[in-house]
Amino acid sequence: MAKYRIAWLAGDGVGRDVSDAAWIVLERLNVDAEYIQGDIGWEFWRTEGEALPKRTLDMMKTTDCAFFGAITSKGVDKADKELVPELQGKGYSYRSPIVRMRQLLDLYICLRPCKAYPGNPLNYKEGIDLVVFRENTEGLYVGVEYAHVPEEFYAVKGMEKIPRSAAISLRSISPEGSERIVRAAFEFASKHNRKRVTAVHKANVIRQTDAVFMEAARKVAAEYPGIQFDDANIDAMGMWLLKNPLNYDVIVTTNLFGDIISDLCAQMVGGLGFGCSGNIGKDYAVFEPTHGSAPKYAGQYKVNPIATILAAKMMLDWLGEADKAAQLEQSVADVIAEGRVRTYDMGGDSSTLDMARAIAEKL
Ligand SMILES: NC(=O)c1ccc[n+]([C@@H]2O[C@H](COP(=O)([O-])OP(=O)(O)OC[C@H]3O[C@@H](n4cnc5c(N)ncnc54)[C@H](O)[C@@H]3O)[C@@H](O)[C@H]2O)c1
Repeated sequence: MAKYRIAWLAGDGVGRDVSDAAWIVLERLNVDAEYIQGDIGWEFWRTEGEALPKRTLDMMKTTDCAFFGAITSKGVDKADKELVPELQGKGYSYRSPIVRMRQLLDLYICLRPCKAYPGNPLNYKEGIDLVVFRENTEGLYVGVEYAHVPEEFYAVKGMEKIPRSAAISLRSISPEGSERIVRAAFEFASKHNRKRVTAVHKANVIRQTDAVFMEAARKVAAEYPGIQFDDANIDAMGMWLLKNPLNYDVIVTTNLFGDIISDLCAQMVGGLGFGCSGNIGKDYAVFEPTHGSAPKYAGQYKVNPIATILAAKMMLDWLGEADKAAQLEQSVADVIAEGRVRTYDMGGDSSTLDMARAIAEKL
């Protein structure tokens, strides 16, 4: 029996292309794992009314972690409604399977390392090496939204300022949810000899929810006196990151701010072809590139697989295979530095699989 069982969720579009690339390097690394294919994505929504079928979730529960490619999400059109009888007469109700996985499996950490590998022509500045910890289950992404304000809400003081025509989305931030994401950031900093943790918020305006987040952040920071702690408003942080990205080390923040900041950081180290991420809970994790299914390139084996291969590196680290993870990262770094194999986004014409094979050859 293999040491690890890994749910393999390639998805659709270029999700399949980049998963094939990750497969090549994992095979070369000889990881003692069994990979179990799972259904996820747009096709299953169209045909079954469910983008993350229950059988996939059940299968995931029998595995150690999951590896995810990318999927297409879009509005539900008339043809889709005709195809799925249960959807007839209903409005738009597509739910992102990624957000669902995060919530159902309580994958509260979204970990996004952003490193400028030397020689990458897309680096904004050499030397950037940031890690973003984004809270993954709360905030504005809890999905409690109303197309019109429910009448009973007007019983609450302050609601008279909100027009009856407004749509509203609720932001919920709990002390427990905040404490565990900040603790994860400090634990990471302490384990990886990182010097500084910066908490990002907008507490001067979003007073209640960000006060909860910042109170938890200060409480946890006090337990780690050896690590410098500071905080910044989300808007200022955008500017400071562009001006002085080398000043930052570990960033921790709430769900929406983390979504934005982590894309900003990813762009500084090469963009979508380099952005990898781990959705991590207490006992389970899902690793993925941050890009989507890029439909115009689907099946062409043209996009850059480095984001996905770095997600595989994160998965190996999480499984405790630190040596294999380090070897894989070194091979990625060597191929980038040599500059012989480059996909279109890096200014070359190598294919997805050329890049994977070049990385595999270094292992
Ligand atoms: N995690 C996910 O599965 C995920 C994330 C984002 C978007 N999506 C979905 O993907 C679909 C397409 O969305 P989109 O076009 O806005 O975003 P996208 O990330 O799929 O692609 C946008 C563009 O970025 C470039 N790109 C993406 N990945 C690349 C790579 N690995 N290498 C080089 N270039 C790359 C391509 O030019 C592509 O057209 C939508 O249905 C969207 O909802 C899924």
